[in-house]
Amino acid sequence: MTRKFFVGGNWKCNGTPNEVKKIVTVLNEAEVPSEDVVEVVVSPPFVFLHMVKSLLRSDFQVAAQNCWVRKGGAFTGEISAEMLINLGIPWVILGHSERRLILNESNEFVGDKVAYTLSQGLKVIACVGETLEQRESGSTLAVVAAQTQSIADKVFNWDNIVLAYEPVWAIGTGKVATPAQAQEVHFELRKWLHDNVGAAIASSTRIIYGGSVNGANCKELAAQPDVDGFLVGGASLKPEFIDIIKSATVKKNA
Ligand code: 13P
Repeated sequence: MTRKFFVGGNWKCNGTPNEVKKIVTVLNEAEVPSEDVVEVVVSPPFVFLHMVKSLLRSDFQVAAQNCWVRKGGAFTGEISAEMLINLGIPWVILGHSERRLILNESNEFVGDKVAYTLSQGLKVIACVGETLEQRESGSTLAVVAAQTQSIADKVFNWDNIVLAYEPVWAIGTGKVATPAQAQEVHFELRKWLHDNVGAAIASSTRIIYGGSVNGANCKELAAQPDVDGFLVGGASLKPEFIDIIKSATVKKNA
């Protein structure tokens, strides 16, 4: 089963219009492996979605960083899945740890969001990952399994889901998981999918890694058999994001 390498750039809550234009220019001018080898998705803040979509090269796609859990209406400050569809945005990141931990999004709430968003025709980058405390207490797999279970409870077609394993202790800390640590969790998560969701879904679902990925560490991580790509934060705002996209060729030559 070949899983196409996936590189997402999560810009988080960053950027001025000028900075955004500069990042898009760098992306547009970059020479990267073809669409057959790597799927590239960048995720600007909501206010820049339209601008990035209209300026960005057509072989790269755009993702929102969140959306509302149900149909739109009287939900001040929220953005609905329908609005993203109407704007031509194909992807959305859901369940990022910054939303789970800072905004108290529960596993169930994230599962509901994933299910509703998929039902509207969007594709989802669903994030899971443990805190340092959870890792140190030996509950990494139990945590990511519970987070994934809440999605599996409500979703039956996994074609449009990419799972992002993002250990919280590695996010924005410069402390990247070692290739062996990433591979171990990706392998266990795929095994969990196999045992609890189904063999075909386990072998076709891409599990990408996020947490301090940069131009220097991406190749070694990409070489791990169960690492199918990356979700990149800080480095996605810099030209080294191009090197991370290029690490897809590690897989092709494997
Ligand atoms: P950093 O790459 O900045 O650690 O962020 C990772 C992340 O949270 C991507 O969603």
